[in-house]
Amino acid sequence: MSTEQPGLFDEPEATPAERAAPSKVINPPQAFLPGVNYEQSYPQISSLQELRSLALKCRNCRLRDGCQQVVFGEGNPCARLLFIGEGPGKDEDEAGLPFVGRAGQLLDKILIAAELKRSEVYIANVVKCRPPGNRLPNPDEVKQCRNYLEAQIRLINPQIIVCLGSLASQVVIDPAVRITKIRGTWLTRQGRSIIATFHPAALLRNEAYKRPTWEDFKAIRDAYRALPAR
Ligand code: URA
Ligand code: URA
Repeated sequence: MSTEQPGLFDEPEATPAERAAPSKVINPPQAFLPGVNYEQSYPQISSLQELRSLALKCRNCRLRDGCQQVVFGEGNPCARLLFIGEGPGKDEDEAGLPFVGRAGQLLDKILIAAELKRSEVYIANVVKCRPPGNRLPNPDEVKQCRNYLEAQIRLINPQIIVCLGSLASQVVIDPAVRITKIRGTWLTRQGRSIIATFHPAALLRNEAYKRPTWEDFKAIRDAYRALPAR
C-alpha cells in the first residue's frame, strides 16, 4: 500500500463543483417561540437575574404605565417544568408574584394534587405587566413581551412547558391553535415537550373544564417523573 493513499479519515479532495460552492454558512441560533426573532430576545443576557433586572426597567409597551409592578416570574431558575400563564391580574400586580389570586390558589391546589412542588417548577406569564382592567394583552404588547419569555425559556431551559389557557398556547404553540382542540396533546420542539391545558381561571368559570384539566395534569406529572435526572 502506498503512503500516498488517502487514509480513512482524510478529507477527500474537493471536486470542482464543491470548490465553486459558497463556503458553509453556520446557521444562526433559532428562537423557540414562533415568530420571535432570536436577535431581539436578549441573546446577550446570560442569567435569569440579569433578565429580571432588565424586565423591571422595561418600557417597551404601555402596560407598565398602568400597573404597579412588573411580575417577572417565580420558581426554580433551573426548573425542568415551566408553566406559562397569560399575565398578572390585580392580586399579582400588588404582590409582584405570578398566580397568587383566585386562579393562582386553584393552580396551587392542582399542583399539590399532582404532587408537584411550586418551588421546584417555574411559573411565568406571557406578559409581565397587568393589562388594565384585566383585558387580554393586545398583539403589540405580546410581541414585545414574548422576547422576555423567549429568554426565560432559554435561560431556565425546561424540558417540559405547560401552556395555561389560550394566549399561552397561541404564543408558544401556534397563533392559530384553539385551546379546546389542542389541550392534552404532547408536542416536541427543539427537544422540549409542550402541552396545553385550560387556564385555572377558566376552571373557575366552567366546571366542565375541571376533569380534562385533571387528566392533563396527571399526564404532566407522569412526564415530569419520567424525566431523566440532570
Ligand atoms: N392569570 C394569569 O394568567 N397569570 C397570573 O399570574 C395570574 C392570573
Ligand atoms: N378560554 C381561555 O382563554 N382559556 C381557557 O383555558 C379556556 C377558554
